[in-house]
Amino acid sequence: TLETVSEIPALRERVKSRRQQGATIGFVPTMGALHAGHTSLIEAAGADCDFVVVSIFVNPTQFGPDEDFEKYPRVLEQDLAKCAAAGADLVWTPDTSSMYPDGFSTHVTVKALSRILEGATRTNHFQGVTTVVTKLLLSCLPDIAYFGAKDFQQQAIIRRMCLDLNIPVEIKTCPIIRDTDGLALSSRNAYLSAAEREAGLSLSRALRLAEEKIAAGETDLEQIKTAMHELLQATPLLKLDYATIVDPMTLEDITTIQPAMVALIAAWVGATRLIDNCQINPA
Ligand code: PAJ
Repeated sequence: TLETVSEIPALRERVKSRRQQGATIGFVPTMGALHAGHTSLIEAAGADCDFVVVSIFVNPTQFGPDEDFEKYPRVLEQDLAKCAAAGADLVWTPDTSSMYPDGFSTHVTVKALSRILEGATRTNHFQGVTTVVTKLLLSCLPDIAYFGAKDFQQQAIIRRMCLDLNIPVEIKTCPIIRDTDGLALSSRNAYLSAAEREAGLSLSRALRLAEEKIAAGETDLEQIKTAMHELLQATPLLKLDYATIVDPMTLEDITTIQPAMVALIAAWVGATRLIDNCQINPA
């Protein structure tokens, strides 16, 4: 049966007691509105670990002033049912006052990686993410924490942060879960109209195009980036932010084929920002 806690001392007590019994601890941080992408992380944690903790916290500091913090979906009862079905053992729902006590003034920033790509337009977004993830990891102290490749830049930044701060938690990155039409699952897909959803399919189509070109032996990455741009820019209702190919660790743009690469896309469809990516390994 699924346990729930909201206070940090209660969370620590439960994790400590399970660890004393020899259990390994897996942790899946989320903002709720759970879908099959989230539950795949919970299942991966359950396959590796004896005790699986899921946090649900809509973190205010990672939303910009013009972003959707207020309207972000909050559906706790449904989320608890999905956590139970996916095999979670404990759901932690911290409240804002315990995560951000009065007088809060400490931030964690992973400088270079947070300024580019998503960070170029979402100022302070990643500082909000890295600050809250540090607090979540230090509160739970898991053996392994699970993140989705959907937010590729986020997991790269969190890996960098754990290395830099010697946070003793292993980071695992799990594959992107997609709808049958190819759209990467996201809690924000709920905002899309039917026409916008159709437009959103261009992201996964452009990624598939890049993959196919590399598989077919194309070595000119500029040519591939241009092809992605053309496909995206020809899509009605879609406003491209970036479509590029980068190094998976540094997230710097690359111009020549290398053993590990990742194609990253961000675009607005109406009032909704969509991101998607795929890792590409040349034959
Ligand atoms: P949230 O958007 O709720 O996502 C929680 C986790 O689910 C993230 O690691 C994300 O990458 C993963 N995820 C989302 N969609 C996915 C998909 N289609 N396939 C696989 N994994 C997917 O990311 C956050 O919350 C927050 O920034 C958080 C890390 C919790 C800090 O507040």
